[in-house]
Amino acid sequence: MVEKLYIKGGTPLKGEVSIGGAKNSVLKLIAAALLVKGVTKIYNVPQLTDVDIMLQVIEQLGAKIDYNKEEKSVVIDATTLTSVTATYELVSKMRASFVVLGALFSRCKEAKVAMPGGCAIGERRVDFHIKGLEALGAKIKIENGYVIAKANKITGAEIYLDIPSVGATENIMLAAVLAEGSTRIQNAAQEPEIVDLANFLNTMGADVNGAGTSEIIINGVKQNQLHPIEYTTIPDRIEAGTYMTAIIATRGKGIIKNVYPAHLTFYTDKLLKMGANIKLLDPTSIEVSCKNRLNSINFITQPYPGFPTDLQSMAMVLLTTSNGVGIITESLYENRFMQVPDLNRMGADIHQDRNHAIIKGVKKLSGTTLTASDLRAGAALVVAAMMADGDSVVEKIHHIDRGYENFENKLRLLGGKIERRNEDSQPNLTEGTHNESYL
Ligand code: EPU
Repeated sequence: MVEKLYIKGGTPLKGEVSIGGAKNSVLKLIAAALLVKGVTKIYNVPQLTDVDIMLQVIEQLGAKIDYNKEEKSVVIDATTLTSVTATYELVSKMRASFVVLGALFSRCKEAKVAMPGGCAIGERRVDFHIKGLEALGAKIKIENGYVIAKANKITGAEIYLDIPSVGATENIMLAAVLAEGSTRIQNAAQEPEIVDLANFLNTMGADVNGAGTSEIIINGVKQNQLHPIEYTTIPDRIEAGTYMTAIIATRGKGIIKNVYPAHLTFYTDKLLKMGANIKLLDPTSIEVSCKNRLNSINFITQPYPGFPTDLQSMAMVLLTTSNGVGIITESLYENRFMQVPDLNRMGADIHQDRNHAIIKGVKKLSGTTLTASDLRAGAALVVAAMMADGDSVVEKIHHIDRGYENFENKLRLLGGKIERRNEDSQPNLTEGTHNESYL
């Protein structure tokens, strides 16, 4: 079944949109549930293909899953694990599943997890993950495409990360929960998803301090000190930033609900500098609007709390029609400008030189056939199509389904003219306020 998004651009988005649970948090919480010999319940679980894959990974290890999509909750019974192997077939579908390495190693002192390899946006090595586990006492072998970690004893250690890697910080945190003694991670990632993982672990009885700063200390606890919990995932800051961008790009006005504005400070600051209006309505809602042409800005993507790489493509869409010239420097990934060729086909004026993109603002973009090459580039092309003149079709939308729950339905609730169709099928609008085809 080949699905595509059909979009008629040019309608200002208006209304309210509610943000779901954070993909990049819940995936790690699901892995962390492996640590407890008991039943964990996670709420605010978004319906995403990445979540489905992560659940399959832990099912393969012996965990029992009850995923209630209506309630947006998942119950994980990890009382008994039957395998320590996460296979290539699953890990290759989603590299975030590599985080089961730390959890399995911690619980079983043994883990065999397929090497995730690179992906469309960059090489994405796992050397820091491996060095971290080695420091905790793991003997690591890389054999037949698998990382095999074993230890008789896991011992706390001092670990310095060359780059504040999100995944390495998480894998080391998980691996250190049941270690003997304390582990100190220096130059740790500070993302809100790291804090969420630490809160989850502490709620289940672990002793993790300093998450959200560059130094995290994990005091090892005994297995029997961990207990089952119920936990609610934080809102997805990247999803929130995406709808903020879509509203601003279409010169609309809308309210984003169930968001933690503090998680988006850097992005909000840049949007304000460009001339958008952003108002805090209450601790979990913001109002976003834009009437006039924006002004161009320059920015560099950086680890949190810097400008998030996952919103770089969104900001680029805004710069395509802003007043002046904007320069983006992508400092995290080698290949994260995948949206550029299609934006230029829409009439943008973007020159790419290695990890720099120079964007000269044009008056308008126009719709065409577009291809989602990865999650964030794909979502940015949808937003570009919403603001462009005329019709667009976005192909390969399975990339977008990895990280955006009900994307087209939420955009339609904001008045966007967008629908998902199976190739060869007749227009078939799903739920939304607009109940007839726009074509
Ligand atoms: N890196 C290494 N060696 C390592 C680990 C990382 O060289 O051992 C490099 C990577 O190659 C990359 C940089 O360090 O250039 C940062 O990678 P990091 O480990 O921080 O990223 P990640 O954990 O693989 C998570 C998110 C990404 C997000 C980044 C940065 C998840 C599942 N993924 O990836 O999200 O871009 O942090 O914030 O949490 C997305 O949602 O679209 C996405 C790609």
